[in-house]
Amino acid sequence: MPPTSTPQHIGRVEMRGIVKRFPGVLANDHVDLEINAGEVHSLLGENGAGKSTLMRQLYGMYPPDEGQILIDGKPHVFRSPADAIKAGIGMIHQHFMLVPTLTVAENVALGLKSSREPQLDLDKVSKRVTELSKAYGLKVYPSAYVWQLSVGEQQRVEIIKALYRGASLIILDEPTAVLTPQEVCDLFLILKKMVSEGHALVFISHKLHEVMEISTRVTVLRDGKMIGTRPAAGVTRDEMVKMMVGREVKPLAPQPMQAGAPRLQIRGLHAMGDRGTEALQGVDLEVRAGEIVGLAGVSGNGQRELAQCMSGLRTATAGTILIEGKDIAHFSLRERVEAGLAYVPEERMRDGAIRDFSVQENVFLHDHTSPQFTNGIFLNFKKMAEHAGALTKQFAVKTASLDTPIKNLSGGNIQKVILARELSRKPHVLIAAQPTRGVDIGATEYIHQRLMEQRAAGTAILLISEDLDEIRTLSDRIAVIYEGKIMGIVRRGEATVEQIGLLMAGISADSAVGKEPCPPDDPVAA
Ligand SMILES: Nc1ncnc2c1ncn2[C@@H]1O[C@H](COP(=O)(O)OP(=O)(O)OP(=O)(O)O)[C@@H](O)[C@H]1O
Ligand SMILES: [Mg+2]
Repeated sequence: MPPTSTPQHIGRVEMRGIVKRFPGVLANDHVDLEINAGEVHSLLGENGAGKSTLMRQLYGMYPPDEGQILIDGKPHVFRSPADAIKAGIGMIHQHFMLVPTLTVAENVALGLKSSREPQLDLDKVSKRVTELSKAYGLKVYPSAYVWQLSVGEQQRVEIIKALYRGASLIILDEPTAVLTPQEVCDLFLILKKMVSEGHALVFISHKLHEVMEISTRVTVLRDGKMIGTRPAAGVTRDEMVKMMVGREVKPLAPQPMQAGAPRLQIRGLHAMGDRGTEALQGVDLEVRAGEIVGLAGVSGNGQRELAQCMSGLRTATAGTILIEGKDIAHFSLRERVEAGLAYVPEERMRDGAIRDFSVQENVFLHDHTSPQFTNGIFLNFKKMAEHAGALTKQFAVKTASLDTPIKNLSGGNIQKVILARELSRKPHVLIAAQPTRGVDIGATEYIHQRLMEQRAAGTAILLISEDLDEIRTLSDRIAVIYEGKIMGIVRRGEATVEQIGLLMAGISADSAVGKEPCPPDDPVAA
């Protein structure tokens, strides 16, 4: 059953001279963009360049201050996303907007009820969901509950929702940031299928190898301005970086270091997961001073729970976590910080920042009582402002001011504030979960450098990342987690991607047979 009125198929969308201002920020400065049916058009640019802002206007979330949107030559004004949907435009946000306690079909049906059709027939919705999932290889079951679905599956439900409403242009704002490499593979197959069926797609990602693999054309934004549009086939990684950053950025090549005494020792750690099963089943892991241990694994194998046990967001059911020999497993967050732990959480917006607090307040979230920033019982605001100003400058955080609520910053800039805060301490042990997820290439380089500096200063670093290239670049040793246990530990350079892939699939190192992980090693990763 199609939605009440199926939109016309879109051949071409043009955005002309788009200007969007926020207080103190010119987010889009006369941007021109043209998107055609049958293409994947990628938007590239550093954090805060204006990509999401441009696309939110195309999806009717807010109006441009100047400029026009034309669909097949006809001007359109969108007052809300409902208007954009009616015109055939869909958008998949990075944070999904699904209701966990409803089924897939119910979620797809949400918002479809109209006065003409007060009784929505869920069986018909389910049938159509099944049809769409077959047609596009989306593998989604209409009767499954959303809370049962992995992140990748939830994303597919969002895509089905857009297709169900008849969207022919679909915007995907950093869809791969939350996916594992295998899920990215699957998503790309789906996107290719959609394009071959005549859809137009806008794809936003900071990972250049993804952009090169999937795009027809690439448009680069810098500081709100359009730098240029190029056919993807005719542009190299270095050219894209230069257009985005205005300079060359080379991947890092860390020097070997002599690791010191153990600073973090995890022994026999057990913890329950959210779904009532045991997520950690006896994790043993040691990180020495001046060492980076990378924790690799397919997401959902206990990485999240391990990080949460470290930070105190989850309570271990058994085992110990020793920092410099002291068991912190049952310490409060404050006691952990005092014991020398710094923590870059994966869900930075939820666990690392307070949305309505200013940039400066977020910089001082844990540190406001440090003697450095107090005069007796009073806070030294001048020193605090200086410190926050220096940090945001070092990390190139793009913000109108230090008083701006952090929720107004672009996604990548929020990440940078939290990273700046956690990396600027002098911790004994640093837990960094997905530290470069969602940040641009220049900031990735900077964060990698900061991690290397922390390592040189003797910090023991546990790097949890789904980006195997990142793990392999930075880690002295790589530990692979599978079903809540460490499957194996290898030294840098001693294991191939295939061997790590086998461990990630739960096949121990000495077992010869196994299946090839996807995607293969990609040396041009951003
Ligand atoms: N609602 C808002 N209020 C104030 N400023 C905003 C708002 N939304 C965006 N901005 C500002 O506009 C600029 C562009 O932000 P935008 O989110 O479009 O960047 P982006 O290119 O998507 O970056 P990222 O790669 O980090 O997601 C940033 O400086 C941001 O702080
Ligand atoms: Mg964005």
